[in-house]
Amino acid sequence: MKIDQNQFWKEINEKQLSPENIAADFEHFKSSSINHKIALFNPAVNGVRYLKTVNLLLAENLTDTERNLLRNTNNREVGNPIIIQHEGMSLCLDYLQAAKEVDFISSAFKIDNSTIIEIGAGYGRTCHTLLSNFDVKEYCIVDLPNALQLSRKYLSTVLNAAIFEKISFVGIEDFDPSNVGNYELAINIDSFAEMDKEVVHEYLSFIDTHCVAFYVKNPVGKYFDKSLDGHSQGSEVIELALKQGLLTDIIDIDNQANVEAASLKFLHVYTPGPDWTAKGNAWAPPFSYIWQALFLKAGKG
Ligand SMILES: C[S@@+](CC[C@H](N)C(=O)[O-])C[C@H]1O[C@@H](n2cnc3c(N)ncnc32)[C@H](O)[C@@H]1O
Repeated sequence: MKIDQNQFWKEINEKQLSPENIAADFEHFKSSSINHKIALFNPAVNGVRYLKTVNLLLAENLTDTERNLLRNTNNREVGNPIIIQHEGMSLCLDYLQAAKEVDFISSAFKIDNSTIIEIGAGYGRTCHTLLSNFDVKEYCIVDLPNALQLSRKYLSTVLNAAIFEKISFVGIEDFDPSNVGNYELAINIDSFAEMDKEVVHEYLSFIDTHCVAFYVKNPVGKYFDKSLDGHSQGSEVIELALKQGLLTDIIDIDNQANVEAASLKFLHVYTPGPDWTAKGNAWAPPFSYIWQALFLKAGKG
């Protein structure tokens, strides 16, 4: 039998692998349409495929503790997340991260019977995971009004009524450090870096005086790499984002050594006060530039 190319490859050879294309693109061919037909899915149009791959890699590497945290957290499919099925569980990136956050916190802080305040909770994935796994006494969420509407609706849907009742929702307009009360653990995930510096200082000062443990997970700095998202949100949003938060140095987030070096500044700026020390700190997978730390106040750990 004579071996011949089929129609599929004939077209690729005539288009992407044409001699003109190869000559024109050789210098960059591994990032061009040539390689997108050979070895690499085009990242510009394969976001979901890569996201599911990240989910799978994280799922494969879950510890038994993390897996159990997820198994105990029911109704994770509410809101139609992008999921994979793995060992009988539906897994999305939000809750894969939540399991890692909660595991990290619980390794240095006794969550059962504690009181918790979370600043900037989004729809409430971390709260959902914590309250599904531990007997938390009270959980206060501080957030912007519309975000609170979402977290209230979501958490009342995924949690049973008795557990939902433990949660209080405080809008930033009602947040008064002298009135909010004391909490053992404060949490901030992926939001201090998006707030004005003065606001972050206000929250850190509240944590210093009203809390005894603090879990923070945020970027170690800013980055400016148009290849990541084509700066699709526009230059005004990018300019604003670059100014927010306490860590505004632009770093190369694809260089692990740079991220680790920047984590020292992260630890410094997020230490709530002189009596606090970092009980643990580490890279927070999967995004290269996100760091996490659990601080404890001296004599209270
Ligand atoms: C990127 S989301 C992260 C949500 C959640 N922690 C997560 O990781 O899924 C940032 C959150 O911070 C909240 N936020 C923004 N500015 C805030 C402020 N000044 N005070 C409290 N929360 C704020 C937003 O409403 C949102 O809930």
